[in-house]
Amino acid sequence: MERLDKLLSSTGRWSRKEVKELVRQGRVLVDGVSVLRPEEKVEPSVAALTVDGQTVDCAPFVYVMLHKPAGLLSATEDSRQPTVLDVLPPELKKRGLFPVGRLDKDTTGLLLLTDDGDLAHRLLSPGKHVDKVYRAEVDGKIDEDDVQALAAGMVLADGLRCLPAGLEPLGDGSQCRVTLQEGKYHQVKRMLAARGKPVLALHRLSMGPLVLDEGLKAGNWRFLTARERAALKEIEGLP
Ligand code: URA
Repeated sequence: MERLDKLLSSTGRWSRKEVKELVRQGRVLVDGVSVLRPEEKVEPSVAALTVDGQTVDCAPFVYVMLHKPAGLLSATEDSRQPTVLDVLPPELKKRGLFPVGRLDKDTTGLLLLTDDGDLAHRLLSPGKHVDKVYRAEVDGKIDEDDVQALAAGMVLADGLRCLPAGLEPLGDGSQCRVTLQEGKYHQVKRMLAARGKPVLALHRLSMGPLVLDEGLKAGNWRFLTARERAALKEIEGLP
């Protein structure tokens, strides 16, 4: 059993103070009944909670889709530079979310933030081969030789062996779509630089079944939908 105010604020939608106010105003129903005491104990796995008539999902973990803007570090804290957590409200930050994998500081696009360590671990585990799709702008033009080289699996100058990767030139070839099944440090930039086509801008479009919401502007975030969460768990083979 958990306190109602603690449970609702743990969703990251409201602070504990805001929750107390919502409860006192009678806007929170537990199993259809208005509960006026924030300290009321409820069973999170069975209680049906609504706020202003809207169902509130009190799932134990939070999943956030962020459209990462350039300039933020994919880290949970840094003494000097802003991190991706800085775009979140304090209630959510307090939950201990972290980015699932990293995008470089200057890379934009889809980043998943969660406090579900198990899911993150499985999504990132090398054996999982979850597709990560990027759009890159390069100095030069992507040609068929580049496509073949990535498809064959490149070995970089420092000996790094890359899994076969997808490469699709876009437009006149100064842009391309790159599909990786792994996420080594600076991998897209290193592969394309090794082909003599240095990356000028990099943007992640998708990760597995998660596609960056076109409605999310850079720097904005939203919670994953139930369908997106289910799709992630499905590739995980999780219940
Ligand atoms: N590959 C890169 O080089 N940078 C990123 O941020 C992601 C993939």
